[in-house]
Amino acid sequence: FDAVDVIAAKRDRHRLSPEQIDWVVDAYTRGVVAPEQMSALAMAILLNGMDRSEISRWTAAMIASGERMDFSSLSRPTSDKHSTGGVGDKITLPLAPLVAACGIAVPQLSGRGLGHTGGTLDKLEAIPGWRADLSNAEILAQLEDVGAVICAAGSGLAPADKKLYALRDVTGTVEAIPLIASSIMSKKIAEGTGSLVLDVKAGSGAFMKELAQATELAETMVALGKDAGVHTVALLTDMSTPLGLTAGNAVEVAESVEVLAGGGPQDVVDLTVALAREMVAAAGRSDVDPAEALADGRAMDVWRRMIAAQGGDPDAALPAPKETHVIMAPSDGVLGRLDALAVGVAAWRLGAGRSRPGEQVQAAAGVVLHAKPGDTVRAGQPLIELHTDTPERFARAEAALEGAFDIGADAPDLPASVVLGR
Ligand code: URA
Repeated sequence: FDAVDVIAAKRDRHRLSPEQIDWVVDAYTRGVVAPEQMSALAMAILLNGMDRSEISRWTAAMIASGERMDFSSLSRPTSDKHSTGGVGDKITLPLAPLVAACGIAVPQLSGRGLGHTGGTLDKLEAIPGWRADLSNAEILAQLEDVGAVICAAGSGLAPADKKLYALRDVTGTVEAIPLIASSIMSKKIAEGTGSLVLDVKAGSGAFMKELAQATELAETMVALGKDAGVHTVALLTDMSTPLGLTAGNAVEVAESVEVLAGGGPQDVVDLTVALAREMVAAAGRSDVDPAEALADGRAMDVWRRMIAAQGGDPDAALPAPKETHVIMAPSDGVLGRLDALAVGVAAWRLGAGRSRPGEQVQAAAGVVLHAKPGDTVRAGQPLIELHTDTPERFARAEAALEGAFDIGADAPDLPASVVLGR
């Protein structure tokens, strides 16, 4: 095969053959196909698309680039959740222990944030002592003992995706549905979960701004799961405004613990329970009700054991920011819109996220909201609280929030639930 022929085929809107796909993914992973060639191919795919069988083969080739984990020795069924990424999306933190409390093993192999969406591992690292890196043997032992693991995906899973994602990130080729779907599903299928629930987000804070695009991404991923024999379902959920009242690291851990303690913002509780119900059903245990396991404290027990198993102290105080700055409501009225992307960018600029891979994040950085769309506010009341250890970051965070909210006389037209569809 020749890389230029493969690029030209997709440029000219032809289907790539299975052999071409296997070759180009493998040759790129081994360094035989050059990054400039793969970026040209990624752009051709972004512009001209791939059909279902091409995407399925591309996904299989990325899985074949690395190891596959195997959870078949566990005494319980496995289920995992993947979110396409949002602002304030701490759902994995309460969800994994909740589903484990229902008798399902939850292998939640996660990533770090890059850009305006936070990373689950960055959030959990706000807990003193907690460590993200576990060996495969430790993952299996913890799944058997505790039932839930949230840890870093090892470099052995789908290395082709790791390399390709980094290239897409710097070549304007992230936003291609075939590439996003195969990227996400190759990692989840290689991880070896028995069933998978996808939380596909739509709105300003999501990759997919429109519900129609999010629906297409969800359908593509569900089909890939089916092709690979992994029972997969998807929920479509709203990401026009942040989830809950916090976006950042320690602040999101604290809010997750509130949910596990039976409180917390209603949208976070609702989405956690909705996803838990899907995971429990996908794993064949529709007889158990996650709402009960949340209410009676079983999910909190699993959380404490899960954090302790990874070296964390569930009772330790979380890091507090050195500086805070409060943005006040400029007028009386009803908060109509609070833009998810703007809040995500503000949290990121405060130090909750990184602008280069490998950069340190601040555990205490983030945003705390004092009102959500639909709430009545009074002029001069606190609206948005900014947290950071480095106050020179306040100005750029405030700039991100300019024009990010409306306060009006009338109640806004809001979705009835954070879950928009299934
Ligand atoms: N998340 C991924 O893992 N891959 C993508 O391509 C986009 C989001």
